[in-house]
Amino acid sequence: MSEYIQTRYRTHTCGQLRAGDVGQSVKLAGWVHSYRDHGGLVFIDLRDRDGLTQLVFDADNCGAEALEKARHMRAEWVISISGSVVAREPKLINPKLATGEVEVQVKSLDVLSESPTPPFTTDAHETVSEERRMTYRYLDLRRAEMQETLKTRYKVTKLMRDHLGDMGFWEIETPMLTRSTPEGARDFLVPARLAAGSFYALPQSPQLFKQILMVGGCDKYMQIVRCFRDEDPRADRQAEFTQLDLEMSFIDQADIVGIVETLVQRIWKDVLGYEIGAIPLMTYDVAMRDYGSDRPDTRFGMKLIDITDLAHTTDFGVFKNAEQVKCIVVPGGAAMTRKETDALAEWSKTYGAKGLAVTKIVGGKLDTGIAKFLGSIEAALLERTGAKDGDLLAFGADKSKIVHKVLGELRQKMFKDLKMKPSREFEFLWVIDFPMFEYDDEQKRFVAIHHPFTTCKDEDVQHFDSTDLATVAGMKSKAYDIVCNGYELGGGSIRIHNMDVQQKVFKLLGITPEQQTGKFGFLLEALSYGAPPHGGLAIGVDRLVMMLRGITNIRDVIAFPKTQSGADLMCGAPAAVDDKQLKEANIKVVQLATATRDQTTKHAV
Ligand code: AMO
Ligand code: AMP
Repeated sequence: MSEYIQTRYRTHTCGQLRAGDVGQSVKLAGWVHSYRDHGGLVFIDLRDRDGLTQLVFDADNCGAEALEKARHMRAEWVISISGSVVAREPKLINPKLATGEVEVQVKSLDVLSESPTPPFTTDAHETVSEERRMTYRYLDLRRAEMQETLKTRYKVTKLMRDHLGDMGFWEIETPMLTRSTPEGARDFLVPARLAAGSFYALPQSPQLFKQILMVGGCDKYMQIVRCFRDEDPRADRQAEFTQLDLEMSFIDQADIVGIVETLVQRIWKDVLGYEIGAIPLMTYDVAMRDYGSDRPDTRFGMKLIDITDLAHTTDFGVFKNAEQVKCIVVPGGAAMTRKETDALAEWSKTYGAKGLAVTKIVGGKLDTGIAKFLGSIEAALLERTGAKDGDLLAFGADKSKIVHKVLGELRQKMFKDLKMKPSREFEFLWVIDFPMFEYDDEQKRFVAIHHPFTTCKDEDVQHFDSTDLATVAGMKSKAYDIVCNGYELGGGSIRIHNMDVQQKVFKLLGITPEQQTGKFGFLLEALSYGAPPHGGLAIGVDRLVMMLRGITNIRDVIAFPKTQSGADLMCGAPAAVDDKQLKEANIKVVQLATATRDQTTKHAV
């Protein structure tokens, strides 16, 4: 391991020395982490990415000059020392430190770099704003947590390469300068100097290239690849992120699911020592019905319970006239105050609901909230929901889509707000049997739920020519998502490998023959030259590392991330470029007045 390479600066790392090394002469190099000056004696904790070692400077061993130098050293100076390893007295052993049984008695000191007082110390990051951490990312990266995350990330990508490589996957690079691909996000564009007025697009994923690699006979492909989507960053989303992308020929859904499952099981076992076990399959319909989400967090119950039939028998207008009425039982939710439940009703409106009716269970009876409307169904409701004293019932009454959305989100919110105990640390599942298409009311056309290259279940092939909206909407795809604790870790599908079928799907999605030729002509042509059945999947590497490290902010698993507004605060990107560069790129920047803001914005034309 590189950590144990000996150089002129060091024989060991700062995390390496143990009681067994006592008596050895060693050299260490690293950063001054902390220092204590006891006059004749200076103690320094020396840090590198491997850990901390306590150094002791005293004049008898290091001489008066080195002691004096040591007294002037400050946090984050870089030094190299030589000395001997000595045992600490039993009462001075630091059990929190891997090297806590020993210290190094310094004989000679070299100051390699000095540092001004840093804007924050490696211990104090929690009180430092994220902007500051991003601006001084090199200081932030020195923190043990960041180093642990980067190490985990490296372990994960190495495992991916090793595991898949052993199974015959080849890592093949695909272009970064390409043309627009259809993942559905906005593209990042790069002006083409040699073709004025034309642009490359950075890939949103290597989707089409990996399919073409299959047509090209490459059989098993993988790549750890950067993808670019010009979307607003979120807690689990960056415009520039990394996928483990893979594709295989002559396979079906169960093969990919099996291979990815063993890979994920191995990653969790090797990195955390955690046994995931078999990953259950859940159909999209069941996920929506029971959890109101296509990426359900199954670590806690609170399934959605359909009470439409009961609700329609009441005189409560909200229930009586709704297309669907469902509820969840919030364990212990009766402790919520009126103010809190009123706030939930307001919160629900952000998900398109008109309100959120609630009632509590007290003394085996419905109490407060909408209890007064539910007398006639009280017994049946208690029986169906199994709600007990101290629970809260929360109801959604609306179109099915809204009921699922709001109750699905409410489950997550209650889990977090009421600090519920999850059944296990990690719950994985595969969500399968997604619909092929969704009707977009605004665009008045179907859109692909996964992407337009996804094939349908065998029994639905006949419906590609259907003109009946309901039939098309009912078609199921061979798409699958792997979900962990309510996060979509990855997704993929079996692809269409037949040109005619691909053209039918394009047509269904409202893509004209001219657009098909213009945008996807190369794919259609490739499919006409003998394409093997194939399929694949992509896992979000950043998200996977977030799960492994229990991190909720995607920026904390990326060495050089972008802020919420897409900026790299350290190097100052994005930035204006000079006129010469613009001219070479055939770009002219003009000021366009924006209608919504009282200011002008720069746009490239
Ligand atoms: P998809 O678009 O579902 O599929 O992406 C696959 C996985 O990539 C991760 N991901 C992201 N992570 C961070 N920031 C983002 N902006 C972001 N967008 C996506 C997610 C997601 O599950 N070509 C297809 C895969 C295939 O069909 O083989 C694709 O890209 O974890
Ligand atoms: P209202 O009759 O509008 O005053 O609503 C009575 C209760 O039902 C309030 O607690 C509302 O928050 C709730 N409510 C209203 N509309 C809905 C709805 N569509 N789904 C669930 N609860 C609702």
